[in-house]
Amino acid sequence: MKNTHDTKLIFELSKPGCRGAVLPACDVPSPDGGCDASDWLPADALADAPPALPEVTEPQVVRHFVNLSQQNMSVDTHFYPLGSCTMKYNPKRNERAAAMPGFNEVHPYQPEETIQGMLEMLYELQEILNEISGLDACCLQPAAGAHGELTALLVAAAYFKDRDFKDRGEHRTKVLVPDNAHGTNPASAAMAGFDTVTVKTNPDGGVCMEDFRAKLDSDIAVFMITNPNTVGIFESNMQELADEVHAHGGLIYLDGANMNAILGITRPGDWGRAGTGGADMQHYNPHKTFSGPHGGGGPGAGPICVVEKLAPYLPAPMVVKKETGYSLDYDRPKAMGRVRAFFGNTGVLLRAYCYLRTHGPEGLKEVSENAVLNANYLLAKVKHFLPVPQGGRCMHEFVASASKLKSERGISAMDIAKRLLDYGYHAPTVYFPMTVKEAIMVEPTETESKETLDAFAETLFRITEEEAELLHDAPHTTTISRPNEVQAARNPCLSCR
Ligand SMILES: Cc1ncc(COP(=O)(O)O)c(C=O)c1O
Repeated sequence: MKNTHDTKLIFELSKPGCRGAVLPACDVPSPDGGCDASDWLPADALADAPPALPEVTEPQVVRHFVNLSQQNMSVDTHFYPLGSCTMKYNPKRNERAAAMPGFNEVHPYQPEETIQGMLEMLYELQEILNEISGLDACCLQPAAGAHGELTALLVAAAYFKDRDFKDRGEHRTKVLVPDNAHGTNPASAAMAGFDTVTVKTNPDGGVCMEDFRAKLDSDIAVFMITNPNTVGIFESNMQELADEVHAHGGLIYLDGANMNAILGITRPGDWGRAGTGGADMQHYNPHKTFSGPHGGGGPGAGPICVVEKLAPYLPAPMVVKKETGYSLDYDRPKAMGRVRAFFGNTGVLLRAYCYLRTHGPEGLKEVSENAVLNANYLLAKVKHFLPVPQGGRCMHEFVASASKLKSERGISAMDIAKRLLDYGYHAPTVYFPMTVKEAIMVEPTETESKETLDAFAETLFRITEEEAELLHDAPHTTTISRPNEVQAARNPCLSCR
């Protein structure tokens, strides 16, 4: 039975004098003979007062946090069809490998000869990611997809600066981004110092070629494209887009967040006309594609791969293979700078490596085929009662619209998403992309069974038949119903006092 009685903050549970453990007095004398911290530490290193920590018993601490964790949905407890953010199952064997002391307990300052296993794993991962993307050099350092975007754009900026063009570097100021791109794309472009130029998409979800051509000029440094894109459509004009950007001297950046739909089927580096190349750089989202745990803003990974001409600008260090073994190469005079300390979030990268090696080339292709099959199966069931504007066929996800329900019965995408929680489903992504009104973005992933997809489609249908009033107040079964969606972001309050 679910324990719902305790929703207090841990500070509210605090009672003076309560302890989980009482340690015996320290009996190790300091060089001066005393046993207190004040005997060991200089006066200016001592706090004025003990920290104001909650005073609770050990069972109170354990129950508090376990109860809190059980009020959340997770991919291990519920179907989680969160489009774009992709919550795919995290195989437990990867967790076990990541917890092995040989990986988990190494320190980045250890001498290289003592971390050869870790370096070999990272080197092989670089090679595998290069192979999947059809690109030449890989950097494992970025800590998230968005960080990969930023790193790659800084690499592009360093590349243009370095080019000898009228003695002043090739001064390109703009980045082209389609209007249905993830918000991180224009944000990364701005952070890297570029101006974003938005390109319209067509009703079918693909890039509008007229608008693209009108905006493409020799000021464009990079065209950022997500393919398959955020409405789950593979860009049908990819070759023309790549060729035309290259003809203007620009670079193609692939937002590779959706690589889970095309693994082993097509390689971004091959997307241009034969001999001219396709994507020049891309990031991967290991949490979406290679089943790393979703960081939820925490430590993730967003490795990038680039074509050969951009390789010198990748940040140090790179993991290299020498005759004497594996090594970290910091000697990179043209590198765009550093994006983080050390060599990446190795725990997340290791999970990706395990996933890649477990599946192998054929298995990865099957992963993508099943992700696309599952999404199309669900699309075919759902589009009869929830219109899908770009709903002919999809890749790994699709975007339905509650627009008609909203205008006819006042039922919004949010109402449907919230009501799904009552039925034991995590909500799909809603209101993204903004090019679809009342968007409900569904991504089932490859691991879900037909039975799970059937049950989810039936539940969605049932919800669309329910009374609007019931939906407006949903969810009815969770501890908290409808928290203010933006208050915590706008007015962060990180302390209970
Ligand atoms: C299409 C797309 N691009 C970029 C990102 C950003 O990735 P991250 O959340 O790892 O920063 C996401 C996130 O899921 C995404 O779906």
